[in-house]
Amino acid sequence: MSWIQEGELNLLERISANILKAGPMPKHVAFIMDGNRRFARKKNMERQEGHTQGFNKLAETLRWCKQLNIREVTVYAFSIENFKRPKDEVDGLMNLARQKFEKLLDEREKLEKHGVCIRVLGDLNLLPPDLQQVIAKAVLSTRAHNKCFLNVCFAYTSRYEITNAVREMAWGVEQGLIKASDVSEALLSECLYSNSSPNPDLLIRTSGEVRLSDFLLWQTSHSCLVFQSVLWPEYSFWNLCEAILQYQVNHQSIQRTPHPQFPNII
Ligand code: IPE
Ligand code: IPE
Ligand code: MG
Repeated sequence: MSWIQEGELNLLERISANILKAGPMPKHVAFIMDGNRRFARKKNMERQEGHTQGFNKLAETLRWCKQLNIREVTVYAFSIENFKRPKDEVDGLMNLARQKFEKLLDEREKLEKHGVCIRVLGDLNLLPPDLQQVIAKAVLSTRAHNKCFLNVCFAYTSRYEITNAVREMAWGVEQGLIKASDVSEALLSECLYSNSSPNPDLLIRTSGEVRLSDFLLWQTSHSCLVFQSVLWPEYSFWNLCEAILQYQVNHQSIQRTPHPQFPNII
């Protein structure tokens, strides 16, 4: 299964997409793609097949996002906590990632044609060295593209990311590169893995779990949060429309809340 899916929306989907697009649309959507194992259990399939179908659903969701003019998507693919899962499951997920990032390298031309820039956010040092290499190659090969952006959070948790940013600033102070008084929300944002991205407008979690599981805690302080009961591999175009509709209903109050984007607080 490819990262870039060709294919058009059907007539009903196209009409609905146009109606949605008449309202305020999120420019950046984040997904906690949850429920792969429950899906596998429900369908009596191997756990690994649930994860594979989860990846396929990501490719399909990216196509819908593109058709809805959503330029940036961030997904939670593997958390640092997920390393605590059984070894065979972690190995299976690493193999899947290896296979998909290799595939991405094969699809360079297609990615260039669509202008897709892929970034991986997380601590790559926690991954097997060969996977680090494939990911680095894949990220480098798309870094100049700027029509749409996919951020894959892999070996990621938000508290780890924030701690890393604080450590970087402390190092800067220690080295005399910055003063303690330079530490600010803006500088911390710059030190996060997500420093090249605007904050998500909409965060969606599937599978009915109502928690953030340490995902983008800093970046989603003013995002619209939508929790949906559907398991990730079963996610549909209509589920995405429903989440966007919730965003639109909440849009005015989201706009009204002050966005203290970068005040100097220290
Ligand atoms: C999300 O699905 C994918 C990963 C965490 C890698 P899960 O594997 O958490 O599936 P459930 O939530 O246990 O059903
Ligand atoms: C969060 O899902 C991580 C990903 C979706 C990759 P989990 O299934 O690992 O989170 P918890 O354990 O239910 O909080
Ligand atoms: Mg889960």
